[in-house]
Amino acid sequence: MSIFHDIGAYKTDEIDRMVEFETHDVWNHSIYGYLFLKYMTPLEKYARAIFYHHTPWAGLEELEEDCRGYAGLIHLADRVDIAAHLEQDGPQIESLLSNSRGAFNEGYVKALRRCYRQKILPFLENGGYREANLRRCGGFMPEAAEALEYLKMIVYSIDFRSEHTVTHTVNTVSLALNIARRFGLDEGELEKIYLGALLHDVGKIAIPASILEHPGKLSGEQMAVMRTHVEETRALIQGIVPEDICEIAVRHHEKLDGSGYPRGLTGEELTMPQRIVAVADIVSALSSRRSYKEPFPKEKTLTILAQMSAAQLDPQICAYVSENYDAIMNSTEEGRRRVIGQYQGIMQEFQEISSRLDSRGERKGL
Ligand SMILES: [Fe+2]
Ligand SMILES: [Fe+2]
Ligand SMILES: [Fe+2]
Repeated sequence: MSIFHDIGAYKTDEIDRMVEFETHDVWNHSIYGYLFLKYMTPLEKYARAIFYHHTPWAGLEELEEDCRGYAGLIHLADRVDIAAHLEQDGPQIESLLSNSRGAFNEGYVKALRRCYRQKILPFLENGGYREANLRRCGGFMPEAAEALEYLKMIVYSIDFRSEHTVTHTVNTVSLALNIARRFGLDEGELEKIYLGALLHDVGKIAIPASILEHPGKLSGEQMAVMRTHVEETRALIQGIVPEDICEIAVRHHEKLDGSGYPRGLTGEELTMPQRIVAVADIVSALSSRRSYKEPFPKEKTLTILAQMSAAQLDPQICAYVSENYDAIMNSTEEGRRRVIGQYQGIMQEFQEISSRLDSRGERKGL
């Protein structure tokens, strides 16, 4: 849960301004984090702790005990981390701990001071904590089915940053599966296509929302940044998911004639599952709303697809899509409606909760 405590900041794009969002306006990302954990993850029972992770210990009295404990622990760890970032300006951590009556649980502060004596800071700085955390988490590694839920959670957290991309992954997955079934791929391959399509844009987490949400054509420089999402995807998933699933994900912008990116691969190097996800990605992008365009009507989508067919995209797959366009789009409709409904529900609840915070940002109840 601590790993995800600031996941809401990916929505509000505050993640790059950590010191700011962690000290000034703490509510936006706390509310998003709460809603995200509550509705989109297997971690619902921790959602309330995320909501209160910036609330001083003294303000947590009404909470049930374990939630209060989690919120208080994350709050302390979070403050100390920020102070450590500012440490070069003076002894920030010591002054944080000694001038913070009511902010933290005293027992936690004592435990932290003990950690200090064991020199926890260098351990954090040299990255040694990662290995230790992994060792510690080894016993909690999720089962396969649960791992998939976590995977989806990461993927959706990215789509949920932007109203325009919210349905893109869901569309791409269901288009790709529809096409793959038509071409007689077996269950094992369907599973790989499912995961490859699910992960294909996960690297967009590294792209600033100002580019993801840019209303209009991207400049050359912005486009270059945007294109790095594929290598970012590779960096995130390579070695974690099986190689063939990774390659499905990271080849969705490659083209048969070598004009794609990032590697400029050609037809002989692109497998059927990779070709399917490439077409599904484009059809999803053309037929949906994006920050730079309204959804294209069927005719325009199919004209563009026809122009790319053969030279850039697999002609058989393109022919199947254009001959069965309505049926394929109808089959993706249900998933799309579900995700949009979820997104709008979260946005509405966000507004409701925000309106209950008073002008000083104090909570008036969840
Ligand atoms: Fe936070
Ligand atoms: Fe992409
Ligand atoms: Fe995509």
